[in-house]
Amino acid sequence: MSNDAIVMLKNDHKEIRGVFRDFEAAGDNATKRKGKLVDKMIELLTVHTYLENEVMYPRVRALLPDLEDDVLESYEEHHVADVLVMELSTMTPDDERFDAKTTVLMENVKHHMDEEEQDWFPKVRDGLGRKMLQEIGAELIAAKKTAPTRPSQPSALKKTIDAVIA
Ligand SMILES: [Fe+2]
Ligand SMILES: [Fe+2]
Repeated sequence: MSNDAIVMLKNDHKEIRGVFRDFEAAGDNATKRKGKLVDKMIELLTVHTYLENEVMYPRVRALLPDLEDDVLESYEEHHVADVLVMELSTMTPDDERFDAKTTVLMENVKHHMDEEEQDWFPKVRDGLGRKMLQEIGAELIAAKKTAPTRPSQPSALKKTIDAVIA
């Protein structure tokens, strides 16, 4: 397994996209399955935004000040996803807004991941180089062990608040 920070974050994205595809393929009546898939999305997104907000973004912001605007935009995009994830976590799949909210979440997150992968990660890789990305990767591995998996956990709430007032 690679300990390069960007490779690890891209692997997360891949897993998230996989669950999105499963949801889109699930069909209108697969209520139970869609509920399970959204649970999985909530877990993966809670972990991933935590790792980026608490480790990757602050490190990049400190080391590559030129990328500050991108980081600030990413915090805001995560915030939108956090709100939707929080709301979805209180809903059941038979709620009339469940599919619509999930669709908007997926659209937002796909756009954000595309931007990271196509634009931001290449700039970060150029700026930081392999050794620093491995150091940050080690921090990601450590942070993953205690990362929240539900948006209601204190560390997830703190992350959400920090991103708005930082
Ligand atoms: Fe992100
Ligand atoms: Fe990401």
